[in-house]
Amino acid sequence: MDPFETFKAAQKQGWAHFTPFEAITTPCAAKLVKRAGVRAGHRVLDVACGTGVVSVTAARLGARVTGLDLTPELLERARENARIAGVEIDWREGDVEKLPFEDAAFDFVLSEFGHIFAPRPEVAIGEMLRVLKPGGTIAFSTWPPELFVGRMFALSASYMPTPPPGVAPPPLWGDPNIVRQRLGAAVKDVLFDRATMLVPALSPSHHRRASEKSAGSMVRMVAELEASDPAKLEKFRREYDALAGEYFEDNYLRQDYLMTRARKI
Ligand SMILES: C[S@@+](CC[C@H](N)C(=O)[O-])C[C@H]1O[C@@H](n2cnc3c(N)ncnc32)[C@H](O)[C@@H]1O
Repeated sequence: MDPFETFKAAQKQGWAHFTPFEAITTPCAAKLVKRAGVRAGHRVLDVACGTGVVSVTAARLGARVTGLDLTPELLERARENARIAGVEIDWREGDVEKLPFEDAAFDFVLSEFGHIFAPRPEVAIGEMLRVLKPGGTIAFSTWPPELFVGRMFALSASYMPTPPPGVAPPPLWGDPNIVRQRLGAAVKDVLFDRATMLVPALSPSHHRRASEKSAGSMVRMVAELEASDPAKLEKFRREYDALAGEYFEDNYLRQDYLMTRARKI
């Protein structure tokens, strides 16, 4: 099997447990949709939509929304979320590296902490820009490498097997210089913003335990270490808690992130 397909199949398994974290990404979804400027009647694609927090937020404004994600368990929850909110959304199981849409099909292409997990950034961004209309808006939220989530990804990666050559670390999407490069000459009016996600937690260890159960590749990594090397797992847990402690205050973990918005030429 193609190593990138194997990589994505493993991602799909890890993300299947993400639903409890929708409570944390929900407020950020409102910020992204607002910052992008979505209005009634716009055609919106929410890439790596997970349980549909961005999709539902946009649909409640009257946009015509398509939500696409790799993970069927999350799309099931997304359908339920749309039903509860009373909105119609076109849900698709699929891969951001191979979007099943025609060129220039959408006014907006959005991604909240999503497309960054595609192994090949240049393929993912190529597809996102391909399906966007000229003059349309691309907007996404991403984790900077030097802040908590970026550092946590780097820590977790140091405990995992090396990914196939060519797989880019997700937090590079949180570096404005790299984002500019990846968007390239296809866009104009690139705008960056910082925003804060406050994650309630009783202690850094509570935050870590929640991540171990729900956060993508960490779910698998912890299960594997539990079986193969419990001492190494304990070391990881101590390092995670120390890192999380640096960002922990008033029973919140502060996770600052980058928002990018640009217009396709
Ligand atoms: C951190 S979750 C974010 C979900 C949602 N956007 C939110 O803000 O709650 C990351 C999502 O990326 C999805 N994902 C990872 N790789 C993907 C790919 N290659 N194509 C589409 N979705 C992908 C996962 O299934 C998961 O739903």
